[in-house]
Amino acid sequence: MSKLEILIPADKIAERVQELGRQINEDYKGKSVHLVCVLKGAYAFLADLARTLEVPTSMDFLAVSSYGKDTTTSGEVQLTKDLDSGLERKEVLIVEDIADTGLTLRYLYNMLKARNPASLKVAAFLVKPARRQVEVPLDYVGFEIPDRFVVGYGLDFDQKYRHLPHVAVLDGE
Ligand code: PRP
Repeated sequence: MSKLEILIPADKIAERVQELGRQINEDYKGKSVHLVCVLKGAYAFLADLARTLEVPTSMDFLAVSSYGKDTTTSGEVQLTKDLDSGLERKEVLIVEDIADTGLTLRYLYNMLKARNPASLKVAAFLVKPARRQVEVPLDYVGFEIPDRFVVGYGLDFDQKYRHLPHVAVLDGE
C-alpha cells in the first residue's frame, strides 16, 4: 500500500507563488512576459503563477519526455509537443514543475535559446539539489526539497495524484 505524507501544504504553496509573482512583476516592469509551460507537470504552477501577474502576459505550451534519466547522464529528451508560435523578440520565462537532474531544463533552455528570444529565464516550482547532474540557470524557485519521490500540484506517479492541492511524499509505490 502506498502512503501519502504532506510535504508542502496548499496554503504554503499559495503564499510562495504570490511571492514569486511579485518578484516577476517587479523584474518585468515595463515589459511583457511570455510563459512557456512544460507539460504536463507544470500545469498547476503555470495556472496559479500566471494569475498573480500584472505585466502583460502571453503563454504557450510544450511537452517533453525523457528517457532513462535515472540511469544515464546522456540527457536524452524528446520534444513531444512543440510551441505554437516563435520566440523572437519575446521575453520568455520557462515554467517547470521540478528540476531534478536538471537534464530536461538544460535541453529546453538550449533549444529555446536557439530561437532568439529577447531574454530567457526559468521558473521551477521545486528543485531537488541532491539529484542535480547538470547546472541550469534557475531564476525563480518555489521550494528546495529533499531527495524524496513527490506527487501533487501537477506532479504524478503513473499519471495519478497531479490534482492534489499540496505536495506529498509518496512511500511504498
Ligand atoms: C518531470 C518534470 C520535469 C522533469 C525533471 O517530467 O516535469 O520535466 O521530469 O527531471 P530532470 O530534471 O531529471 O530532467 P516527466 O518526464 O515526469 O513528465 P510530466 O511533466 O508529464 O510528469
